Amino acid sequence: MQIRSGLCLATFFAVLLFTAPARAAEPTKVEHGRYLVMIGGCNDCHTAGFMEQNLKIPEKDWLQGSAVGFQGPWGTTYAANLRLVMHSMSESQWLEHARKDRMPPMPAYVLQQMKTDDLKAIYAYVRSLGNPGLAAPAYVAPGGKVSTPYFVFVPQVDQKTAAK
Ligand code: HEC
Repeated sequence: MQIRSGLCLATFFAVLLFTAPARAAEPTKVEHGRYLVMIGGCNDCHTAGFMEQNLKIPEKDWLQGSAVGFQGPWGTTYAANLRLVMHSMSESQWLEHARKDRMPPMPAYVLQQMKTDDLKAIYAYVRSLGNPGLAAPAYVAPGGKVSTPYFVFVPQVDQKTAAK
């Protein structure tokens, strides 16, 4: 009886030894999605105040969009609440949605070039954040009335410097 339980214990530790390192090296889908969001810089625009405060903004507030617009020749765009977007669609709808063309300054090519498994990981991570929250303000066409603060994306020339 004692020998048998000893053998059992030995098998248990052997299994632990061989599986633990493999599991530690393999991030979960949600962890991989978080990593992609981090290195993709998505928070800079899709989280209010992130460009200025970076990681001081707690993760529970990430990716809920921003009410500060980006204005240029394309009109005024707002970085969407990604939690709301992903909560409103299935994974396969997301894969199609993610690859659509977008207005500046959204780097649409990033998602268009991304591998399907990576897009799925982002979907899993963003949905894991929960609490979808409210939508960002709607796009305003050029010349339309903008009632929020906005960044102006037009190259400026300093007249004093230019005159010299
Ligand atoms: C430089 C700012 C910026 C960065 C960085 C950025 N986005 Fe965006 N994103 C925007 C803006 C602005 C829009 C709205 C564009 C439009 O209205 O066409 C947008 C739109 C989107 C949309 C469409 C949302 C909808 O309305 O359905 C998705 C999805 C998205 N971004 C995901 C991401 C992800 C994921 C990352 C990181 C890899 C990222 N974005 C990085 C600014 C940014």
